[in-house]
Parts: sequence; C-alpha cells; structure tokens
Amino acid sequence: MEKIQQALERARQQREGAGTSTEARQGHVEDVQSIVYTRTQSMEGKSETQRENRILSAMEHSDYADAFKILSTQIIQRMEEHQWSSIAITSVGGDEGKTTTAINLGISIAKEIEYTVLLVDTNLRKPELHTYFGIKPERGLSDYLQGDVDLADLLVRPGDVDHFVLLPGGAPLMNSTEMLGSPKMCSLVEELKDRYPKRIIIFDLPPVLNTADTLSFVPCVDCALIVVEDDTTKETELKQTVELLSVTNVIGTVLNKARY
Ligand SMILES: Nc1ncnc2c1ncn2[C@@H]1O[C@H](COP(=O)(O)OP(=O)(O)OP(=O)(O)O)[C@@H](O)[C@H]1O
Ligand SMILES: [Mg+2]
Repeated sequence: MEKIQQALERARQQREGAGTSTEARQGHVEDVQSIVYTRTQSMEGKSETQRENRILSAMEHSDYADAFKILSTQIIQRMEEHQWSSIAITSVGGDEGKTTTAINLGISIAKEIEYTVLLVDTNLRKPELHTYFGIKPERGLSDYLQGDVDLADLLVRPGDVDHFVLLPGGAPLMNSTEMLGSPKMCSLVEELKDRYPKRIIIFDLPPVLNTADTLSFVPCVDCALIVVEDDTTKETELKQTVELLSVTNVIGTVLNKARY
C-alpha cells in the first residue's frame, strides 16, 4: 500500500510540473490536432474471436446488449451533468471484466448516442485489448509515450463500428506506473478532451490493488467506473478501492458476471 501512495504522490508532483510547461503542452496540441479520422486505419478483425470475447460488434441483439445500453445511458447522463468526457474503467482485482466492460460500453455509446468514442488500452503491463477484436496493430500508446510517434498513425477502427476508435497499448512496458503518471500522459488526456467536444474517452486500466498504475493515472481523468464481479469481489477490498480512487470522481459500480 505504501508503494501505491508513493506512486500517487510522485504522479501528482509530475503533473504539477507539467502544468507549467507551455512548450510541452503546445507539442501535444499539435499531435492531437493532427488526428484526422479519415486517416484512421480500419481493422475488422475476427467475428468469431469477438463473439467468444462477448464483444457487442459481433453479437446479435440480446439482453446482454440491452444491459450495456442501460449502462451507457446512465453513464452518459451522469457525465453530461458534470461536463465530463473521460472515464477510467477499473476494478479491485484481476479478471473481473474491466476490458469487456470498457469495450462494450464504448460500442454501446458509439452506436446509440451521438458521441464519438475513443477507447484507450491503458493496461501497459499487459496491453491485450486489441486481441478481443482479433486484430494485431503494430504499435500503440507505449510507442507514443516513449518516442516521437504521431498519434494519428496509432489509431485504428476495430470491429467495423462507426464512431468508435481504438488507441492500442503497443509493446508492454516495465515502467508503466511512471509512464501512466507522467506529464506527457496527462497532457495527452487533456488535449484529447479539449479537441473534440462530443467525444467520450474510455481508458481500460489494470486493477487498483495489484499495482500502482491505476492510481498514478486516475487523477488525470474526470471519473472512474468500478467493475465488481458477483460473488468474487470482497467488500473490504471494494471499500479500500473506493477510498483510493477518491483522487478522481467514482461515477459508480457495475455488477458483472451476475448469476441472477
Ligand atoms: N459478463 C460476463 N459473463 C461471463 N464472462 C465474462 C463476463 N465479463 C467478462 N467475462 C469473461 O471474464 C474473463 C475476464 O474478463 P476481462 O478480460 O474483461 O477482465 P479484466 O478485468 O479486464 O481482466 P484483467 O484484470 O486481466 O485486465 C474473460 O474471459 C471474459 O470473457
Ligand atoms: Mg483487462
């Protein structure tokens, strides 16, 4: 826990430093301004893989899709109320359904509501979100954070869903906590938010209690959604997670894998 708090403090200090660097901000504005959707590469992927991974782009109308419609409507209502546009998806521990929820929430918003969705794979230790679509992008966020890569070249349109764009994670990073809490990452979030008023940015993150990655990043986003696994997530750990996430606005919880 001490490690997590240290990372949080370090991230705060880094961000305060970032706020004063006009030159750095200007650089990122240019990066983001160069995003043109017509340049975004389309990758349809494999329907079978998407179905196996419970991804809505490959599924027929169902109660499952309806549940995501209800979820996305509530989330958009709450986000609009506060003029929020960025949301982190996280959980207490592993395998609770964060990535599945992040993807399907994004598809549901892009399909039903007049928003464009940008989904970002921010699980930089295990950047596997693209595999849920059966696609193999060559680069991603880790390349952007480590080097001089044009963001527009990293974006893909997976699953053939209109108004839905993915920024893949890229190669796994060992120093993911530092990268996610870096001024460059926080500036990227700010610029993505400023640039397109009708865009929701969804960040798929690792669990809160396993590493400091999520806590070092969440102060950069407007709100966080906690995925809870029925019969698995422990109440004490959930309370601890909610407390730790008080550095942002916890918008709510989603009960996943519910049996009833
Ligand atoms: N509602 C659901 N019903 C049944 N299975 C589900 C549901 N949601 C997710 N799963 C399955 O649970 C597993 C874990 O899901 P997912 O990868 O989305 O979790 P995660 O929280 O992102 O995991 P990690 O902590 O590794 O990032 C996957 O096999 C996924 O298909
Ligand atoms: Mg995941």
